[in-house]
Amino acid sequence: MKKILPLTQGLRRGIEIPGDKSISHRSIILSSLGASTVEVSNFLAGADCMSTVACMRALGAKIEQAGKNLLITGCGLHEPENVLDAGNSGTTLRLLMGLLASQKFLTTFTGDDSLRRRPMARVITPLKKAGASIFGRNDNKNLPITILPAEKKLRGITYEMPVASAQVKSALLLAGLYAETPTTVIEPAPSRDHSEKMLEAFGAKLEKVGNAIKIFPTEKLIAPEKISVPGDISSAAYWIVLATILDGSDVTIINVGVNETRTGILDVLKSMGAKIEIFNERTSGGERAADLKIFSSKLRGIEFGGEIIPRLIDEIPALAVAAAFAEGTTIIHDVGELRVKETDRLAAIVEEFNKISPDTFSATGDSLIIRGGKKKFFAECKTRADHRMAMSLAIFGAAAEGVTIDDADCVKISYPDFFDTLIFGTED
Ligand code: S3P
Repeated sequence: MKKILPLTQGLRRGIEIPGDKSISHRSIILSSLGASTVEVSNFLAGADCMSTVACMRALGAKIEQAGKNLLITGCGLHEPENVLDAGNSGTTLRLLMGLLASQKFLTTFTGDDSLRRRPMARVITPLKKAGASIFGRNDNKNLPITILPAEKKLRGITYEMPVASAQVKSALLLAGLYAETPTTVIEPAPSRDHSEKMLEAFGAKLEKVGNAIKIFPTEKLIAPEKISVPGDISSAAYWIVLATILDGSDVTIINVGVNETRTGILDVLKSMGAKIEIFNERTSGGERAADLKIFSSKLRGIEFGGEIIPRLIDEIPALAVAAAFAEGTTIIHDVGELRVKETDRLAAIVEEFNKISPDTFSATGDSLIIRGGKKKFFAECKTRADHRMAMSLAIFGAAAEGVTIDDADCVKISYPDFFDTLIFGTED
């Protein structure tokens, strides 16, 4: 159990945040497919990305780690000796299902209690359409999942995805690398496009028309020598929200990825009245990065949903905290996907956050409603083993009357140094 005390002063400091989780996963996977050595810097050494490292090592990649740096050499994929364990990581599992669907060897996946409950039919169904022999427990819905050796190449398919999911899209693009003919994936709304960007950086041929992405089979990838991973805007989100809602704050966040498929949180907070400056914009390896300046601001409630949701799906718990400090009501539509994240985040937000600010959070259908400005209390909350719930509860308590959380350790999934940053930060 961890107790977070209320912060009595605004945050006035510079903060460096860890490497982007999504880009780190993709760097490990794609670098393992080339034949040369790739130096990955500022990689996120959180538990999720370490699950990807372990899986790629089991599949034959040579990966040397020194803190936030990796040296990865692809040696051709081979059959793993044991079951691959994706831990808590949906990205590890779903991307690797796509990659391995076309391989001539057998793979079985498992994961932790949370991942074994999460829906996998969204990947299994289209991979079966492409000709993969892939089977999951519970009528192909859940882990454990086994992929039988591919007897021939997968078919290139055109697949209209029922939900906007970067993980599903990426799985199909990776499967498409080894298919017989091009694969086209059509998204209902644009989700993060790190896979597309990195595949192109590795020499794969892709075409994008509207929400359709077509990948041409490319068996030989040409790896770049270096990949530098920008900081994770999903991790920065906690400091962005905390600085906004705490009076007297002036925070600089250094080296944040600002790929526009990820910056929905900045757009929403700005519409709520937040003062956020983006400066030092640059591009590195096809990904945009920048520094951010955040000042405390008076927020007002707003209503949003639709296409912006995939651009901020992981930031909704943090945004819900911001909305609790806003004047008026915030309504967030189309957030049904929150039910199938590391925990049911819609239920978790309503049940746990209301302990800090009673009668503030409710859910109707796929919408989350937050009535801002209610009184806040000290509370004892449960993270439900969800890293993003833990960090959102921590900033909520810090900006209110304090909080205890039962399992602080789960932040290691995406932000191992989170609590150290809250106490010490990096002084400007
Ligand atoms: C991710 C995609 C998102 C996100 C997850 C990471 C990725 O999931 O919630 O934390 O790296 O592709 P979905 O694609 O399932 O929405």
